[in-house]
Amino acid sequence: MSQEPQSRTELRKFLAPEFIQGPGALGLVGRYALNLGGERVLVVSDPGVRSAGWTDAVTKVLDAVGLEWTLFDEVSPNPRTHECARGVDCFRSTGSNLIVAIGGGSPMDCAKGIAVLASNKGAITDYEGVDEVRNPGPPLICLPTTAGSAAEVSQFAIISNHEELRKFAIISRKVVPDVALIDPQTLETADAYLRACTGIDALTHAIEALVSNASSPLTDLYALEAAGLAAANLPNATEALKAHEPMEQMMQASLLAGLAFSNASLGAVHAMAHSLGGLLDLPHGLCNAILLPHVVAYNYEAAPIAFGRLGLRLGLEPNAAGKARRALIDALHTLNEKVGIRQTLGQLGVSPSDIPPLAEKALRDPCLVTNPRHPDRSEIEGIYAAAL
Ligand SMILES: [Fe+2]
Repeated sequence: MSQEPQSRTELRKFLAPEFIQGPGALGLVGRYALNLGGERVLVVSDPGVRSAGWTDAVTKVLDAVGLEWTLFDEVSPNPRTHECARGVDCFRSTGSNLIVAIGGGSPMDCAKGIAVLASNKGAITDYEGVDEVRNPGPPLICLPTTAGSAAEVSQFAIISNHEELRKFAIISRKVVPDVALIDPQTLETADAYLRACTGIDALTHAIEALVSNASSPLTDLYALEAAGLAAANLPNATEALKAHEPMEQMMQASLLAGLAFSNASLGAVHAMAHSLGGLLDLPHGLCNAILLPHVVAYNYEAAPIAFGRLGLRLGLEPNAAGKARRALIDALHTLNEKVGIRQTLGQLGVSPSDIPPLAEKALRDPCLVTNPRHPDRSEIEGIYAAAL
């Protein structure tokens, strides 16, 4: 069980990269690539981001400052080990010395994997876990096109091992990008459903960081503000008319949540979502959205003070004595519905027979270590069953 609030005598560190946020940040990629010693650039992206025009926007800026580049856009929605291997082959064969990632969490995580392999021997699976990466990679610049993953500021890279049907985490300061260029204009091409799923991912980062056993007063500050911003702005940010202000607020929520979870780590929602992504290749944000209310229901008794602060920040009725837990769970269900996420895991194709292997993989995920309550196998299975 977590002891809350965190004792001021406990050791905590806080790590964040340099980041520039605001309209026009994308246009700085050439200057930063030169500043970091770039001579030839590997641009990592995916087909969707390329067809939205964002890879062209980046390569035009690189052209303008005279930098040669190669595009590697063979990245899946849940990036695979072999994509990291192919990417590093491309990095080496083209004589690249700097990586620019443009896209959502998948291209950025794949770029982190490529950077690890560019400076370290072996396979990307050798670097699973905490602080297993020995040598720093080449300079890495990340430009997010979704407000959710916050891979542009985090110490996490999540890669899918398709042979073993599981996702694994590389958690290391060596995968923190050198620079993040956070341009809210890039959100405009994402459709409403993608914005909903990635936005709930950001909210989940904030909530899991807030109740994590590794939280600190500093990460709480970012986590609470991120949760408030996300809950208030996500419904408007997913409207078809694409209002700028709520989308910019979601970019801010994603950044703050990223700074919180990169340093406080995550919890059972992510452990269980990674398992679903690895075994059944389901979208990360959608899995989080479906699991979040059920995991909060399970965790609440282990972190009532932190959840109480969250409820207040979300504007829930403060004097509902004994009803704060129910109010928070209901609010999370309502938010999902408001943004168009109404599926259950069963409707995504998960069957009762999938639950034991899903629980098995979730129990081994490092995100579970910082969950405020330590579930056993049957409890994890119970949460999956409730979300079915
Ligand atoms: Fe996430």
